[in-house]
Amino acid sequence: MGAHAATAANSDSELAESLARDGFAICEEYWSADRWLALATEAQLLRVKGGFRRAGVGRGTSLRIRPEIRSDYVCWIDPDAPTRRQRMWLERMELLRQCLNQHLYLGLSSFESHFAVYPPGSFYQTHLDRFADASLRTVSTILYLNPDWAHELGGALRLHLAAENEATHTSVQRDIMPTGGTFVCFLSAEIHHEVLPASRERWSIVGWFSKRR
Ligand code: OGA
Ligand code: MN
Repeated sequence: MGAHAATAANSDSELAESLARDGFAICEEYWSADRWLALATEAQLLRVKGGFRRAGVGRGTSLRIRPEIRSDYVCWIDPDAPTRRQRMWLERMELLRQCLNQHLYLGLSSFESHFAVYPPGSFYQTHLDRFADASLRTVSTILYLNPDWAHELGGALRLHLAAENEATHTSVQRDIMPTGGTFVCFLSAEIHHEVLPASRERWSIVGWFSKRR
């Protein structure tokens, strides 16, 4: 079987298997519609209340706003004061963390996450999620929060995967539509990826499992 034939997983252990085999995994309908719709509503309310900020590139003192690289807005989830819906998501991710550690011995120890909104036309150019400053982001996670997403709207997450056939040096792309309830995870230090512009607002919760230094 080719390396990039990954089909949708149905459980966390299947996600772990795909992650180990392909470096990424996709699960459609990972979170039930009433749950992700509630999170979407919450995110929209947070935005009305001014809770979102222009996303930056880099971390700590090297954090910069670089709209030519990314033009989304984010609102971090406070792990010490999550809403009930946010807590349910954090608990779900805690189960996934334990499953990934059991299957893959990744030693994931923490999770950080934020809501993100890409206004129409905004994007995030090709990048890796692990920073050059040796932060230990290891597995990236994304849950999409968009009802009725259609292919013509654009806004795919595009994964740039290593060549299937090393000799041809061709890179393989895999596009994932940001349909509500779809969940994607991938190895933060290995999978280059980008967000293509959409003609409609594009909502998600992005997160990262890290290991201890
Ligand atoms: C990110 C990112 C992808 C997406 O926030 O680092 O790559 O599909 N997001 O929202
Ligand atoms: Mn990213």
